[in-house]
Amino acid sequence: MTPLIDYHRDQELALIGLANAPVNALGHALRQALAEACSTAANDPHVRAIVLYGLDLPFSAGADISEFGSPLTWQTPSLPDLLPELAQIDKPLVAAIDGVALGGGLELALVCSHRVAVTSARLGLPEVTLGVIPGAGGTQRLPRLIGVEAALDMMLGGQPISAQRGHELGLIDCLVEQRHALLESACGFARQLLADQSPARRHRPAPAQAPSADFFQAQQAQLTARKPGQLAPQMVLDAVRAACELNLSEGLAYEQALFRKALQSPQALALRHQFFAKNEALKIPGIDRSTPLRPINRVAVVGAGTMGGGIAMNFVNAGIAVTLLELSPQALDRGLAQIRKNYESSRQRGKITEAQLEQRMALLHGTLDYADLADADLVIEAVFENLEVKQQVFRTLDEVCKPGAILASNTSTLDVDQIAAVTRRPQDVVGLHFFSPANVMRLLEVVRGAATAADVLATTLNIAKRIDKLPVVSGVCFGFIGNRMLEPYAREAHRLVLEGATPAQVDGVLTGIGLAMGVFAMYDLAGIDIGYQVRQARSEYIAHDPSYFRLADELCSLGRHGQKSGRGFYRYEGRERLDDPEVVEIAERLAAELGIERRSISDQEIHDRCLFMLINEGLQLLDEGIALRSGDVDLVWTNGYGFPAWRGGPLHYAEHLGLNAVLAGIEHYREALGAYGQMWLQSAPLLERLVARQHTLIAQR
Ligand code: 3HC
Ligand code: NAI
Repeated sequence: MTPLIDYHRDQELALIGLANAPVNALGHALRQALAEACSTAANDPHVRAIVLYGLDLPFSAGADISEFGSPLTWQTPSLPDLLPELAQIDKPLVAAIDGVALGGGLELALVCSHRVAVTSARLGLPEVTLGVIPGAGGTQRLPRLIGVEAALDMMLGGQPISAQRGHELGLIDCLVEQRHALLESACGFARQLLADQSPARRHRPAPAQAPSADFFQAQQAQLTARKPGQLAPQMVLDAVRAACELNLSEGLAYEQALFRKALQSPQALALRHQFFAKNEALKIPGIDRSTPLRPINRVAVVGAGTMGGGIAMNFVNAGIAVTLLELSPQALDRGLAQIRKNYESSRQRGKITEAQLEQRMALLHGTLDYADLADADLVIEAVFENLEVKQQVFRTLDEVCKPGAILASNTSTLDVDQIAAVTRRPQDVVGLHFFSPANVMRLLEVVRGAATAADVLATTLNIAKRIDKLPVVSGVCFGFIGNRMLEPYAREAHRLVLEGATPAQVDGVLTGIGLAMGVFAMYDLAGIDIGYQVRQARSEYIAHDPSYFRLADELCSLGRHGQKSGRGFYRYEGRERLDDPEVVEIAERLAAELGIERRSISDQEIHDRCLFMLINEGLQLLDEGIALRSGDVDLVWTNGYGFPAWRGGPLHYAEHLGLNAVLAGIEHYREALGAYGQMWLQSAPLLERLVARQHTLIAQR
């Protein structure tokens, strides 16, 4: 086994290199090795200063998340015990930071007396994204060092900051431009400290200063409004308030108690599930590191509408040139103008500079001529959602594109195999289902067709990373993972309004469990006409059940297309969403026509019917092999449909509720709802099997 620490002396300096690949997670073995190395250095009279660094690795990504939930987290030396000991060493300790210093990694840097960082390094306390709080001193030391406001921002947002910003905030003492010069610069810095006889310890035991008397009250109000029900952000706020009231050792003890509580919470379990699901999602049977990648340097997008424009922006943002093809000069101009407008708004918000705006626009080339797509390595089609239209585009692409080019479709529901079948190269065809707005949403469903080649899939997963997307692989079926699950979930929501609920009641129950938006607000935003068009391809469902999405269809025929027409399931005054009694009247009329008895609907019934059917469909997708893992299903819903990550995703939520409770709920409504129940509320065989075998986890299948 390779040693986890590289220790050597360079005259009066001890150099301690952390060598726990790939990210220097501070697992038990590394903590032990670090404690020993620091103790050696502290006790060696020849050592006058210590430099900590990552040995050809990032400085540290923090506590080892895979130890969370196991006794190893607390096994001596635990991180919260080790770091205060390092803080007591009576010699200057310099953290030399390359790559990342995150979570416990930044907390390690914080107990050092000084910090030197490469300009490209990123620093952060992302613990809230894991449902915990910084638990090794971060909540107490960071506010004391950089001020309460900046520290709270870092902890509540969870997003890392640049080393440059860290320098401005006083977190970093010295910046180094070149990575290869880091260690040498850090050693030089340490020697200078010795020459200057700088104090070895720079710790601040006194409480931090709150920015104003009502600061925490205002923060609390914001938190309650923006993150209701979330445990970790609340604990961060409590811990930082404690940093302003208690001395350091009391504050550390307070933080420790909160951290332990957070770590055991269902929310932390859910967010850990999300963390590991993201890494798992990239592990695809038949694909590994040896799978060759096709070079992608030139990209083309067919269709410069809502999606095509956003898709093009992703590549341009990553410095990859894009040719954008349209049907007419007007459509092309409109598409390019929209992209410019989007960048303009980013520039106004200070996200990009004028020069960056122009650089990005310069990477875009509009065309009306398919011949200009001949040298593209990847072509993404984003034309109207119509099979014949898409097939025609793919026939043409097959004619003009060079051999080996990857031909992708952004279809949201259509059969990728039927699209591939019109080409002579189905192995090069894949689905790349972006979500709207495509330049913002991170989720990318990668649809593996029956013939899609392994290197095509591997290349698309790789390119997803280059454009900062989160790829989840799906098999071919109507709607893939996300939209297929949306159907039964939204179907129940629509039917519940016919039975007596209101759109606001349904949406309230869904946002009440943490969804970013209820079904009806979402339909209004996406456009009720869009869903209507998609359903036209599924007329068999309407024949099967005349109440199927009947309310949405009626609103569509009345021209109530949602936000864009000012009326849909709700009424809009500007951006304000208001209940509309007319929708209730329409629902009453339709219910009478369909012979549906209206009644008072409980919130519990809304929860159970919408969410259990969502879960049920997710399980069915697993059983059919469309989704590879329950984590994949969960990622799609947390990243594409606003399902709260702190509930882990629909399938993790099912485990939390109890699979038997979900099955019992479906069976209950199947009986209670008579013919409608028999028609739609059929439990997935996988759910039945899991419950029959008394499995509580879906992975046990
Ligand atoms: N613990 C355990 N494993 C970790 C880890 C961690 N903190 N951070 C990353 N890993 C693992 C990943 O799971 C992955 O494993 P795999 O190869 O087996 O799938 C491997 O390291 C490489 O990670 P990525 O594929 O994510 O590599 P990237 O280069 O894309 O990203 C990263 C690197 C930015 C460090 C990213 O992994 C990351 O953000 N990690 C999480 C950092 C974090 O949240 N730290 C806080 C931990 S909680 C804490 O410190 C509590 C403390 O306050 C007490
Ligand atoms: P859109 O109507 O905004 O844009 C389509 C564009 O394609 C139009 O500008 C049109 O001129 C152009 N076009 C049509 N036929 C063409 C052809 N033969 N050659 C070149 N250009 C052609 O549509 P939108 O919303 O961008 O959707 C495009 C695709 O993306 C559809 O398949 C849709 O299902 C899918 N999608 C849409 C999402 C959304 O929220 N709008 C989300 C995810 C996928």
